[in-house]
Amino acid sequence: MAMQQREVGVRDFVLLEQITMDKFMENLKKRFHSGSIYTYIGEVCVSMNPYRQINIYGPETIKIYKGRELFENPPHIYAIADAAYKILKQRHQDTCILISGESGAGKTEASKIIMKYIAAITNVHGQNEIERVKNVLIQSNSILETFGNAKTNRNDNSSRFGKYMDIEFDYKGDPVGGIITNYLLEKSRVVQQQSGERNFHCFYQLLRGASDMELHRYDLIKDTSRYHYMNQGSMDALSEKSDYKSTNIAFKTLGFTNEEVQTIWSTIAAILHLGNIEFQSNEDDLTISNKTHLQSASNLLQVTENELSNSLTKRTIAAGGNVMLKEHDATQAEYGKDALAKAIYDRLFTWVISRINRAILFRGTKNQARFNSVIGVLDIYGFEIFDSNSFEQFCINYCNEKLQQLFIELVLKQEQEEYQREGIEWTNIEYFNNKIICDLIEQPHKGMIAIMDEACLSVGKVNDETLLGAMDKNLSTHPHYSSRQLKPIDKELQHRVDFRITHYAGDVIYNINGFIEKNKDTLYQDFKRLLHHSKNVNLSEMWPEGAQDIKKTTKRPLTAGTLFQRSMIDLVNTLLKKEPFYVRCIKPNDIKSATVFDDDRVQHQVRYLGLLENVRVRRAGFVHRQRYDKFLLRYKMISQYTWPNFHAGSDKDGVRVLIEEKGFGNDVKYGHTKVFIRSPNTLFTLEQQRNEMIPHIVTLLQKQVRGWIARCNYKKMLAALAIMRAYKTYKLRFYVHDLAQRFRNAKNMRDYGRSILWPQPPLAGRKAEPQLKRIFDNWRAFMILRKYPRSEWQQLRLQIIAASAMKGRRKHWGQQRKWIGDYLSNSQENTCYQAYTNNIRNLKNVQANNTVLFSSFAKKYNKHNKSADRAFIVTDSGIYKLDGAKHKFKNMNRSICIKDLTSISISPGLDQLVIFHSSDNNDLVFALQGENSQLKEDHIGELVGVICKKYFDICQRDLRVDVNSTIVCRLGGKSRTIIIQGEPGVENPNFRHTAGNIIFEVPPFYCV
Ligand SMILES: Nc1ncnc2c1ncn2[C@@H]1O[C@H](COP(=O)(O)OP(=O)(O)OP(=O)(O)O)[C@@H](O)[C@H]1O
Ligand SMILES: [Mg+2]
Repeated sequence: MAMQQREVGVRDFVLLEQITMDKFMENLKKRFHSGSIYTYIGEVCVSMNPYRQINIYGPETIKIYKGRELFENPPHIYAIADAAYKILKQRHQDTCILISGESGAGKTEASKIIMKYIAAITNVHGQNEIERVKNVLIQSNSILETFGNAKTNRNDNSSRFGKYMDIEFDYKGDPVGGIITNYLLEKSRVVQQQSGERNFHCFYQLLRGASDMELHRYDLIKDTSRYHYMNQGSMDALSEKSDYKSTNIAFKTLGFTNEEVQTIWSTIAAILHLGNIEFQSNEDDLTISNKTHLQSASNLLQVTENELSNSLTKRTIAAGGNVMLKEHDATQAEYGKDALAKAIYDRLFTWVISRINRAILFRGTKNQARFNSVIGVLDIYGFEIFDSNSFEQFCINYCNEKLQQLFIELVLKQEQEEYQREGIEWTNIEYFNNKIICDLIEQPHKGMIAIMDEACLSVGKVNDETLLGAMDKNLSTHPHYSSRQLKPIDKELQHRVDFRITHYAGDVIYNINGFIEKNKDTLYQDFKRLLHHSKNVNLSEMWPEGAQDIKKTTKRPLTAGTLFQRSMIDLVNTLLKKEPFYVRCIKPNDIKSATVFDDDRVQHQVRYLGLLENVRVRRAGFVHRQRYDKFLLRYKMISQYTWPNFHAGSDKDGVRVLIEEKGFGNDVKYGHTKVFIRSPNTLFTLEQQRNEMIPHIVTLLQKQVRGWIARCNYKKMLAALAIMRAYKTYKLRFYVHDLAQRFRNAKNMRDYGRSILWPQPPLAGRKAEPQLKRIFDNWRAFMILRKYPRSEWQQLRLQIIAASAMKGRRKHWGQQRKWIGDYLSNSQENTCYQAYTNNIRNLKNVQANNTVLFSSFAKKYNKHNKSADRAFIVTDSGIYKLDGAKHKFKNMNRSICIKDLTSISISPGLDQLVIFHSSDNNDLVFALQGENSQLKEDHIGELVGVICKKYFDICQRDLRVDVNSTIVCRLGGKSRTIIIQGEPGVENPNFRHTAGNIIFEVPPFYCV
């Protein structure tokens, strides 16, 4: 591989020790012979045609050049393509690659290599659309070469048209579309070829590549010598067989329909048939002698034989609103036929390109297109000199002059002018400016194109000879123009036939014959109408002006010369808007040899291409220049003094500080408005340092943005909270207001608003609801209680507790009387009250805080089925049994802790039976009674009230109270049933034991 080889000579002519033609040639030759076909002049790539396949274009090589700088690897056209692509990607700037050189120097090959490289390094994500676009771009070459290239004496695959291709990239740098612009096709080749040359490749591909069946369809035979348009020059075979296949594959890839492909090949066949049509004139009558070709051509063009025959032999003339037919003579018919063949081919070629363009047109939106950039690749027909040079060579060579002029303008002239303008020390370098030749050709009114146009416009007998006379007259003093008339002793030039232009690339003698016709480029209207009315829609589409009314007079069309000149001016303007890169192609010899280095031929090219001057300007010059503000904007992040902004002076000062800090002071010059960098290495280092800083900047920006987003969200959250709070307050206020409205009359109601429906609180009012309810309950309680003196509140409270515990299951419960609680301490109730209080005091001494809440005489029933008169007290903590009055309440027996109670059972009747159930399996069974007789008033309600209150105070839950006339209890661990039975004759309630049960006998009226 070339890159692993040792470098031969110098890789950049700038590095030559002496810049002389000899040293330049020596280096070029050495490198050519060693296979190093590329050499730089700074960023210009000089490319030698090796005329052999060299293994320097494979995937491995692509990898080496991808994303690298020019100076990092041996010179290669890949590096130029990469540099153009890098600028596009980094700066989103349009670039173009201008490939120049004479015919056969390798321009078309170079353009294909560039496209393949770009295709190889893009679309890393493998997107289908991009892959499609790349395929179309590459495959389009094969079609363009089939129809636009031909074998000439200079090049077997010579481009006979100019091609400028814009490859469009999206912001990510992937190719997303493109557009091809074509320039003047050398269509005269369709009907006439010089000796040794051929017609366009497509004719040979069809004849030699198509199957017999296909050929039969086109009425063709596989013999090129049978067709006039193919047998005038060379009939050499190249690689038509496989090329025909490739062309058809390319048609498919590009989305041509079968009908379209059919149209194309049919049209090519029709042209061949047209070429074989012959005319015979018998006095005034003109006939077509070879009718089979007429028939085939009309079939293939899908017009009637008659129509074709008429348009070939006659001409419609419209004058003063009248239409008449005029018969051609044989010469006119021949001319018309050839003009038709040329025009059909030309239109076909343009139509094929428009179809290719449709396939590669960017398919995104207009908005997306705004972010696209392009790389333009220009591959035109090279400068050429044939034995006989005509109007076509004149145009081709003019085109090359224009490109050379562009190169001179940008590389030699403007560059030097810029150094001077910017005040950079500079010694002027002389070079030949070909503007004088461009002016000779294109100057308005005075130039050759203007003179030719004038000749075409003149009425009367102006022919090629008189045109030459006009040129001689007008250009006699021009140093780059001469003719036999002006230089009678110059035998090289034929009298009244030749003129010579001293082009930048050499002298070319042009034969004036045919210039006027070719410049006029007229085609009879009848042909346009004929083809517009073809049944083949594609063909008809190529001839839109055929639809025009015959009588309508049309403006005289612009001449071919003027059209070409305009397209060149457009092209130059397009290129001037882009950052240019140059590939200067050189051919080593004229015999297509891989080994011959023809010194004279090469030296001639080096000279006219101005390469030596290029080296001189380059050597003294700078690789890069940038306006101070732009430079600072791009690199300010790599210096602590300029990041984030430079405030200590002008942009120029900022750039100076940055450059000095980085140690590039010796490699840089400061102009008035721009900084100039001499070596690519400096630029590369700056770029590298910038690339290193970018991730940090991105992180910084991300940090800022994230912070900003978080702050925005936080503010939003605060606002939401404030809104929520306000809303909650509003709802709460509304709720309270609603409450106040509902209850505003409660104090006047009998139930103090108890029956009023409490509204459903809003979510925000759930917490407040219980408190509000409590406030209301307290108020209601107060309203109810305020009628009673405070001294009664205690009893009232007990009564409420008792009432709610019994839930209406016992009708009489002493609610009417005053509740005393400690009855035994009352002298009215207990005659021995003193003995009682003494005992109780003792009890209190033993157990602190033992207030007696209730006391009573009672008949007690025990586990031994014995009943006895006793007393009991309820204190803060328990229930105690006492001896009866007889025994002075002495013995204080078993007690039950209030917290150990499980429930209380009472009866619904008037009796005063009460059972205290507890968990120790030995319930207390009492029947309350008076000292000597039964109680006159009910004490059960009070007892229940006292016990339940105390129980709630201690245990914080309600004690169950059962009300039943049959009560199950446990005595001494056994379950016993107490049945309350009304017994006539019984005055004092009494326990009786019977068959395991206990009968509590009461007067019958006690029972309910
Ligand atoms: N890099 C290359 N490697 C191998 N062969 C090459 C290379 N460049 C050119 N050639 C050979 O030279 C021939 C002519 O090249 P090409 O067609 O590119 O010339 P051109 O400059 O486009 O000429 P024209 O102006 O006539 O179109 C090619 O057909 C090919 O055989
Ligand atoms: Mg070419």
